[in-house]
Amino acid sequence: MLATVVLSAFAAVGSAFVLSTRDGPFGMVFDHCVVDGSVAMTFDDGPYNYHENISDIMTAAGGHATFFINGQNWGCIYDYQDALKHSFAQGHQIASHTWSHADLTAVDASTMETEINKIDAAIENILGVVPACLRPPYGSYNDAVKAAAAAHSKNLIIWDLDSGDSTGSSASVSKEIYDKGKASRTGNILALNHETSKTTVTEVLQYAIDDLKAYGYTKFVTVAECLNIEPYTSVGPAGTPNYSWHCDW
Ligand SMILES: *[C@@H]1O[C@H](CO)[C@@H](O)[C@H](O)[C@H]1NC(C)=O
Ligand SMILES: *[C@@H]1O[C@H](CO)[C@@H](O)[C@H](O)[C@H]1NC(C)=O
Ligand SMILES: [Zn+2]
Repeated sequence: MLATVVLSAFAAVGSAFVLSTRDGPFGMVFDHCVVDGSVAMTFDDGPYNYHENISDIMTAAGGHATFFINGQNWGCIYDYQDALKHSFAQGHQIASHTWSHADLTAVDASTMETEINKIDAAIENILGVVPACLRPPYGSYNDAVKAAAAAHSKNLIIWDLDSGDSTGSSASVSKEIYDKGKASRTGNILALNHETSKTTVTEVLQYAIDDLKAYGYTKFVTVAECLNIEPYTSVGPAGTPNYSWHCDW
C-alpha cells in the first residue's frame, strides 16, 4: 500500500493549491501530477476505434481519462463525433495533441498556429469547448512552443510514466511498467498511453487500474484534476453533429 506517511508529506500540494486558472498563468510545462493519490491516465493519438471502449472502462472504474486528440492522424476527427460526445458526456477530458501530430519544434510559426487552431476549432465545433491542455507530439517542445501555448491560454502536459505502447512494448512489458512504476514514486502518476493500441484497451488498461487501485491509488482523475488546472479555456453549447464535415478542408 502507499504509505500514509508518504501521502501526508504531499498534503501541502493538496487540492487547495491551484496552479492555473482560466485566467492563467499559461505556457507552463507539467510532467507530473500534484494531487496526492491521483492517477491521470492519458490516451494519445485518437480519436480512433477504441475511444468509447476506453471511456467505458475508465467510467466503470469510477474514474476519468484524458484524451489528447488529433484532427487527422489515425483517423479524421469528424468521423468520431459520436465517440467524442460519448466520452465527453461521461466526464472525460478532451485535450489537444495538435491537428496532424506535428513535431512543433520543427515547424514554422504559421504552421504551429494552424496545428493549434485547427484542432481547437474541430473540438469546439463538436463539443463546444476549447482545450486548455496541449500535449506536444513526441513530448517535443521548446521556448517557441511554450510561447505559442501561452498565447493560446494553454499549458503543456508531458508525463512521468510511459506505458511503452507506442514504442513497441508488448502488453506484458506495459503491465510490468505499471507494476514497477506504482512503487517507484511518491503519491501520483501521470501515465502516457495510446488509444490506438488495441492491447492497451483489451489487456493493459484494466490490469493497470486494478493493480494501482490495490496498491492504494484511489483517484483516477483527469489531468486537469490531478494538476488543479482548468481543462478548458471556454465552455459553450455543443454543436450538432454534422457528418458532412471532413478533414480535407
Ligand atoms: C469495444 O466495444 C465494443 C462494443 O462493446 C466491442 O464489440 C469491441 O470488441 C470492443 N473492442 C475492444 C478492442 O475491446
Ligand atoms: C453541415 O456542414 C456543411 C458544411 O459546412 C454545411 O453546408 C451544412 O449546412 C451543415 N449542416 C447542418 C445541418 O448544419
Ligand atoms: Zn502522439
